[in-house]
Amino acid sequence: MLKGRHLIDPMDLSVEELERLFELAGKIIEDPKKYAESCKGYLLATCFYEPSTRTRLSFEAAMLRLGGQVLGFSSSDSSSASKGESVKDTIQTIGCYADICAMRHPKEGAPKVAALASPIPVINAGDGGHQHPTQTLTDLLTIRSLKGRLSNFTVGLCGDLKFGRTVHSLIKALARYDGIKFVLISPEELKIPDYIREEILIKNNIEFEEIERLEHTIGTLDILYMTRVQRERFFNEADYIRLKDSYILDKSKMKMAKEDLAVLHPLPRVNEISVEIDNDPRAVYFKQAKYGMFVRMALIIKLLGVEEC
Ligand code: CP
Repeated sequence: MLKGRHLIDPMDLSVEELERLFELAGKIIEDPKKYAESCKGYLLATCFYEPSTRTRLSFEAAMLRLGGQVLGFSSSDSSSASKGESVKDTIQTIGCYADICAMRHPKEGAPKVAALASPIPVINAGDGGHQHPTQTLTDLLTIRSLKGRLSNFTVGLCGDLKFGRTVHSLIKALARYDGIKFVLISPEELKIPDYIREEILIKNNIEFEEIERLEHTIGTLDILYMTRVQRERFFNEADYIRLKDSYILDKSKMKMAKEDLAVLHPLPRVNEISVEIDNDPRAVYFKQAKYGMFVRMALIIKLLGVEEC
């Protein structure tokens, strides 16, 4: 039962719970009208202290498509955080008005702090460079829907693996499936954090390699997960400018890839995927954004514990 629980880290859901969630998402995709009133009378609060297009709007679309309603703020400037209010006080207040809350915050751990004080379920919608569990649900549903399974893949993760929270969450989640090999493609300065390498990959005996050149490995990959260099997390603009165009996936690189490669990206993209490949059937990042709404519909139903059709 997920009713009343928080989602702060991808490991908060077991593999079995993920499977039930994806089954529900699949049923919603097949017949969305059947779920059009599932959350009638419920309110979702979106508390976003950091900018967002997909996560906030897909949460809001999800709740509206379930017949519920939404309220919230899209920047700390438009909330009393700008007057110095703590996350703990904010969530206790939001809990007086809403039934469930999705929170994005630039500080790592802020949604967890909120969850500890919250009378309603809190969903981490991205905390600093740490985790982004609902993007991981999106990524897993995309892979499962398009490939029919979540095991036995060579998965390339490319770009900013240091600050890219979607990468950290996806590695944690995928490491629980059989036969996953990771190829971690990044400049030296943007390699995955030590805690991911040591606590997730080495400790669990997961096969992985770390390399710098995408073209050396693209032909071996089943899934390529591209990421943006996270300008907002750099301390130094000169370093960002030096590293920002480290990787550009274009037609020439796609020629070296497998026919059934799936190219994912959490978006937004900057330059790391050339628009010239957007019409390549292997480019699935806009489909992925749509799966994000459906999986958030399923998650809201589960956390609210409303009756499933
Ligand atoms: N993928 C993602 O988190 O996008 P937004 O920053 O637009 O929400």
